[in-house]
Amino acid sequence: MCGIVGYVGPQQAAPVLVEGLTRLEYRGYDSAGVAVLNPRSSAHPSRVVRAQGRVRDLEAALPARLAGTTGIGHTRWATHGEPSERNAHPHTSYDGRVHVVHNGIIDNFALLRSRLTEEGVELTSETDTEVIAHLVARELSAGLTLEDAVRAAVGQIVGTYALAVLDAQAPERVVVARNGSPLLIGVGDGEMFVASDPAAIVRHTSQVVLLDDGDFASVTADGFHSFTDGEAKTARAAVTLDLTVEELELGGHDHFMHKEIHEQPESVERMLTGRLDDRFGTAKLAGLNLEPRHLRRFERVKVLGCGSAYYVGQLGASMIEDLARIPADAEPASEFRYRNPIIEPSTLYVVVSQSGETADTLFAVREVQRKGGTVVGLVNAVGSSIAREVDGGIYLHAGPEVAVASTKALTHMSIGFALLALNLGRVHDLSFADGQRIIAGLRAIPGQIAEILAGEESLAAAARELATAPSLFFIGRVRGYPVAREGAQKFKEITYRHAEAYPTSELKHGPLALISPELPSVAIIPDDDLVERNITAAQEIRARGGSVVAITHPGVDLGDAATQRIEVPRNEVELDPILLTIPTQLLGYHAAVALGEDVDRPRNLAKSVTVE
Ligand code: F6R
Repeated sequence: MCGIVGYVGPQQAAPVLVEGLTRLEYRGYDSAGVAVLNPRSSAHPSRVVRAQGRVRDLEAALPARLAGTTGIGHTRWATHGEPSERNAHPHTSYDGRVHVVHNGIIDNFALLRSRLTEEGVELTSETDTEVIAHLVARELSAGLTLEDAVRAAVGQIVGTYALAVLDAQAPERVVVARNGSPLLIGVGDGEMFVASDPAAIVRHTSQVVLLDDGDFASVTADGFHSFTDGEAKTARAAVTLDLTVEELELGGHDHFMHKEIHEQPESVERMLTGRLDDRFGTAKLAGLNLEPRHLRRFERVKVLGCGSAYYVGQLGASMIEDLARIPADAEPASEFRYRNPIIEPSTLYVVVSQSGETADTLFAVREVQRKGGTVVGLVNAVGSSIAREVDGGIYLHAGPEVAVASTKALTHMSIGFALLALNLGRVHDLSFADGQRIIAGLRAIPGQIAEILAGEESLAAAARELATAPSLFFIGRVRGYPVAREGAQKFKEITYRHAEAYPTSELKHGPLALISPELPSVAIIPDDDLVERNITAAQEIRARGGSVVAITHPGVDLGDAATQRIEVPRNEVELDPILLTIPTQLLGYHAAVALGEDVDRPRNLAKSVTVE
């Protein structure tokens, strides 16, 4: 979603802000802006520059000299109001004194807008954020300090926010507040930073303070103090970031998505290090905070996630059923939280999220906990809101993922589920020998992913062919169905082509009517006990003039059921879907490249969806 960055210190703020915004651009990118305070200029104590489009458009709009050593910046993903310069942040108060950047949604903004209008304030944008600037200005004009004014303004708003606020008459500070949207303070040497995502400030410092919901902080060049609504001071200690600038560079790849796909062999190897327990044929998952005897008590598993994370959750649920033989299913967290779910103490709830900030998933965590359930998380972003709120979990250690379309984090999620399923299996009926079989399978995965990636050129050729179709099917059955769902998701989000996933078994119940030479299918055909049925379904497509790209295993005799064959190495049957997914990443990627689309920044999408 939107991104926030702020700076107070001896440097000129504008370049620091723009560099930070560039690193945040993957979160949202329809407009951007900065506000900079310059106490030395009585004519222009504060300057605001905003632009529709990318951060590079903002950069082009900046005056050659934009002096000032305190500033805030924002990159926007529109929620209220179209993408335009006047809706871009920072927003400024009626008296020009206050500038605000905001992530989140103000639910009662319509009421606040009409109250302000009645009081004679002229609103200049369609956003919910603008009201905050006016509310803070009104409190300042009543004589409050900036800290108290922000606190008083926040007391009038209902909703979620990460806020950074400037007062042109207090140019040495930035005041921030957090409720439901991530925000952190970067601690430098004689300078301080504010950001919604560590990527914005990692070039400057690795020491960060993660704010909690309800926190406020007043940040100056030599430090900060944090406080809460009730005025109590809070002690928030700095932690060291596990992130380097190199991880945020393209490193010779054309796109982050390509880089992230190719990082998988190494990142998966890293993730597995220290987590496989050969002695007991299980996984070491101390972070779950659940002893084997506690794990054994769970009679059911419910997996919750959104989008692709939900599709991986389906895969995870089937691994859990396969290995632990306890009922497991997955549900979109976005649906779960709105349907008054029954929370059972004997169910283990598992949430899965790359960003750890997806609002729907976070609210699902809270719904489970409110009703007394146990919820663990499979999360990539260390220190994220979900990671902090769950009862325990497994960090995915995929490293930063910059491309909006997720790839490596999803692979790490599926490996995370395999570890969890193994662990649950071994406290139920999974034998030691089967545990060792799964461990050996997991150890083989990094090398097998590398093997698949080595065949990139023929995948790219298949992708270029698929890119010419206006619409296509991804089909798979049982364990292959989540693979098909994720394949279709990746394809549609970056190519803008309609791609629909269907259970292969269901084709004959309707969708077969659509098959024609213009509608190709990508069929997941692993060498499992359904292989013959899957081949028959592919033949039915071929018989009706449709082409079939089959993702299959070596030795499977497809006859004339496929027009193109993509092979992935065989692993254990429970783990095969992890590898069957890898070619679909490259199919989506190369199709989007062939179509000339902006692969890393698909239109209308944001990397982490922190609004409901
Ligand atoms: C698709 C994609 C999204 C995310 C979803 C959940 O490529 O990235 O569907 O999977 O928005 O995001 P996280 O995992 O951050 O909770």
